[in-house]
Amino acid sequence: MHISIPVLLSFVGLTGQLALAGAGGSTIKACQELSKALPGRVSLPLSINYYREASEYWSTVLRDIKPACVVLPESALEVGNTVKILNKYPDVKFTAKSGGHDPNPGHATVQDGVLISLGKISGTTYDRSRNLAYVKPGGEWNDVISTLNKDGVTVVGGRLGIVGIGGFLLQGGISFLSSQYGLAADNVVGWELVTSNGSIISVDAGEQPELAVALRGSGSQFGIVTQFTLKTYSIGKVWGGLRIYDESKSNDIFQALHGFVPDNTQEQKAAIIVSNLFAIGGTRAFIVFYFYDAENPPASGPFANFLKIGSLIDITKTQTYAELLKSNGFGASLLNSRISFRTLTIPYIPNKPSIYLEISNKMRDITKNFLSNPFRLTSQCSVDFQPLSSVVGKHTEDRGGNAMGLTGSDPDRIILEIQCSWSDKNDDETMRQFSRDLTSWIESMIPVWLEGQDGAKELYLPLFMNDAMADQNVTGSYRDYDKLKLLQLQADPDGVLRTRTGGFKY
Ligand SMILES: Cc1cc2nc3c(=O)[nH]c(=O)nc-3n(C[C@H](O)[C@H](O)[C@H](O)COP(=O)(O)OP(=O)(O)OC[C@H]3O[C@@H](n4cnc5c(N)ncnc54)[C@H](O)[C@@H]3O)c2cc1C
Ligand SMILES: *[C@@H]1O[C@H](CO)[C@@H](O)[C@H](O)[C@H]1NC(C)=O
Ligand SMILES: *[C@@H]1O[C@H](CO)[C@@H](O)[C@H](O)[C@H]1NC(C)=O
Repeated sequence: MHISIPVLLSFVGLTGQLALAGAGGSTIKACQELSKALPGRVSLPLSINYYREASEYWSTVLRDIKPACVVLPESALEVGNTVKILNKYPDVKFTAKSGGHDPNPGHATVQDGVLISLGKISGTTYDRSRNLAYVKPGGEWNDVISTLNKDGVTVVGGRLGIVGIGGFLLQGGISFLSSQYGLAADNVVGWELVTSNGSIISVDAGEQPELAVALRGSGSQFGIVTQFTLKTYSIGKVWGGLRIYDESKSNDIFQALHGFVPDNTQEQKAAIIVSNLFAIGGTRAFIVFYFYDAENPPASGPFANFLKIGSLIDITKTQTYAELLKSNGFGASLLNSRISFRTLTIPYIPNKPSIYLEISNKMRDITKNFLSNPFRLTSQCSVDFQPLSSVVGKHTEDRGGNAMGLTGSDPDRIILEIQCSWSDKNDDETMRQFSRDLTSWIESMIPVWLEGQDGAKELYLPLFMNDAMADQNVTGSYRDYDKLKLLQLQADPDGVLRTRTGGFKY
């Protein structure tokens, strides 16, 4: 049906109210009070802003979830006023959204509650004299990186430029620059934070080191961040892009991966993501994202070993960092699918170069029958192998530490991201279960793989929040869980964030 925008708008006043019927009485009151207090910032169902905000999510699963109203604040003060008003309605759920890339229902979405979209709180400014950038949570990494690129500097941010900023920086953030400078969150030195009671505070990592650690990897549980202060680093032209390989290269790729992981601590300018794809009929392929922080990659060594493997498609080249991130995000921006994430952190085991293929074979076996169905041509899963070299923890520690608890004495590890995408709603649980089956199988195999290894008992394998599924106990995997939980209780004494907002909890 075709309806012109003016006609649609004329319905808004009436139908907007009717559509609120799914929400409870206090939610309707909260939305009404917010509309009065923040003129022009609150949208109701069937308005253009509401439609845009409630459907602007990377995973299409989340587009079915309908908030009662959407607040689009334009300043920290307006976010603060929103939270103050919401404090008067204790049974109204609310949540903050930055980029909307977290695919978990109920994280950056809220059925029949109040969605606070930070899309208009965006922009980046560079303070050359202090080597700092002030980055607001709305928008995407493409905007931040291209703005800073003009001054020859960058920040530790996303690897695909389309990804959102706020969630990324609060949940950890693996960057191509992480072996040089740590996780993205490690490089945040200041936060402008709207706390659980709606007051606006400035957190300085130097003055409040404990709160700073908590804010680096606790997600949404300490407040709504309206600005991040990030360390900047100079950057010139870089080399990178992606290459695609067929299944026949499996052994070569996994052998190169095994050589790369321990070398990354020396060769810090290099980064890779090995993405192993599973598609129709159990066919496998690989997309490898490459990054080297110089105009040309080295001609020998473990990174170069990767580059010798013959690929089907090769779009690697020398380019600006901003151009690289833009082109890396292109494929993912077209997906338009229902999507799930799940993660597991596995140890690097020097004498076990075979485990990557074992993991790949297991995932193929789990998904094969399902993906062989001709009606599921567009469904696929992938297992991404993301090296987390020991040196990342050293950078974390040098910068004061993070909630994930990385330290300078960490061993090499690999963060797995298991992603599935599909189009039929009826497949939601089946697809999520494939990822669960894989992680529980790997968890059962880790002790077997580690038999006879020295120091295996002390292995610390925290989960990586940005890649996790909602049912994973991410914070529970953190070394300092008890201490962080207590800090969260102090920051949120009435449980406003803990019980009423989305995201991973303590
Ligand atoms: C294509 C793609 C590529 C990716 N690449 C990477 C990568 O290279 N490295 C990596 O580490 N991760 C990566 N991720 C994962 C990504 O970091 C997470 O999905 C992250 O949550 C995205 O941030 P966002 O701003 O879009 O979060 P949203 O989906 O908007 O929010 C996620 C959670 O954070 C909360 N939140 C968001 N903003 C705020 C705020 N300002 N204050 C308080 N709480 C807030 C929300 O309430 C929600 O609980 C990628 C994801 C996708 C889809
Ligand atoms: C609101 O929270 C802040 C920080 O958590 C605290 O310092 C302040 O006293 C609180 N204000 C009120 C009115 O409770
Ligand atoms: C998560 O893990 C922690 C630490 O082991 C535990 O105390 C907590 O009960 C767990 N939470 C859930 C919801 O299982």
